[in-house]
Amino acid sequence: MDGTQRTSRLAGWHRVGRGARVEALAAWLGLDVDALAPVLASGGIDLAAAEALIENVCGRYALPFAVAPNFRINGEDVLIPMVIEEASVVAAAANAARMVRAGRGFTVDLDPPVMICQVQIFTDSPEDAADRIAEHRDELLDIARAADPMLSDLGGGPVGLETRIIDHEAPEPGERFVVVHLLVDVRDAMGANAVNTMGEAVAPRLEALTRGRRGLRILSNLADRRLVRARFECPAEALALPGFSGEEILEGVLAAARFAELDPYRAATHNKGIMNGVDAVVLATGNDWRAIEAGAHAYAARDGRYRPLSAFNRDAEGQLVGTLEMPMALGVVGGATRVHGVARLALELLGATRVDALARAAAAAGLASNLAALRALGSEGIQRGHMRLHGRSRHLARPRHTDSSTTRHDR
Ligand code: MEV
Repeated sequence: MDGTQRTSRLAGWHRVGRGARVEALAAWLGLDVDALAPVLASGGIDLAAAEALIENVCGRYALPFAVAPNFRINGEDVLIPMVIEEASVVAAAANAARMVRAGRGFTVDLDPPVMICQVQIFTDSPEDAADRIAEHRDELLDIARAADPMLSDLGGGPVGLETRIIDHEAPEPGERFVVVHLLVDVRDAMGANAVNTMGEAVAPRLEALTRGRRGLRILSNLADRRLVRARFECPAEALALPGFSGEEILEGVLAAARFAELDPYRAATHNKGIMNGVDAVVLATGNDWRAIEAGAHAYAARDGRYRPLSAFNRDAEGQLVGTLEMPMALGVVGGATRVHGVARLALELLGATRVDALARAAAAAGLASNLAALRALGSEGIQRGHMRLHGRSRHLARPRHTDSSTTRHDR
């Protein structure tokens, strides 16, 4: 299959059986099925790789790896890898992607991959310190650049330097500080290592310039220079459910979205529905889902009130329009992506040699999951579909300490 012919619209994908799905993935990836199947069954890492990743390893911990069909993103058909323990998330995302296909699919655009490193400098005169730092901006960027010359060779590196003065009430002597934000284009990495190294490299010069004392030097997970924006337009008819017209569902989605705008208690759950899709892609590709979660929720509360990350409206043609905006600090190099066989396959599935394809997929999966939840919540309720799929795993529950090799379910 070449990229121009292949379609991600795989009708009956949930029914064909795991073997047929693995064969289809092998064909999509241009791999031998006999090479692919063992990697997928392995869970991605052996014990040696587990010990290379973290400390105090006693074993491995597996989660299901699934592939959601039907996604079209920026005009291209995409199969989305998802790792998650919750029933119905994958099915719901695939179903929503099928509806969105009835429009133009998802369109997703990204900011450049710029991360923020914070360097805290204690000084009794933060205002003067900020002026001194601004005067020496280029010199400081040169110091940061020299700390990771390879990033500059790849077309990234430090791109800006800003200062913020955090005022707090009645500071004790020595408590005032200026925060320097070093902005770094991290290319295809998540970027934590690169920016932390640069932050530590510039701190001594910042101390000398300001006659201040350094505090923390660490990236910010509120990665608001690295936003992703996803959007779809979906004809109302495509949203219909048995017993509910497309128009009724559209009204239900708009009302559910309005509830989230008005109430942080609802916004938290609304955003959880988005993160169902986002995190599943983040996990499947070996990325840091805590960083993505931290960034998402901090961004949702950026104006002091917790808000939904997505919005839904009706356009002039009567279609449902969904939009999502959130930070998306992901990487396709380094970390677990290096050693995890299934994470590497997941990236290959997305064609993600550059981070852009991965970030687009995560955003589209998030918006699809959100649409699926609101469509159900605004009509028949969530439990009907959820419990039907959840019921499949209930009979598998087994007592603690059961040797899996002897149970009939472990196939
Ligand atoms: C469950 O995992 C996610 C939902 O609660 C999301 C939502 O309420 O929008 C269904």
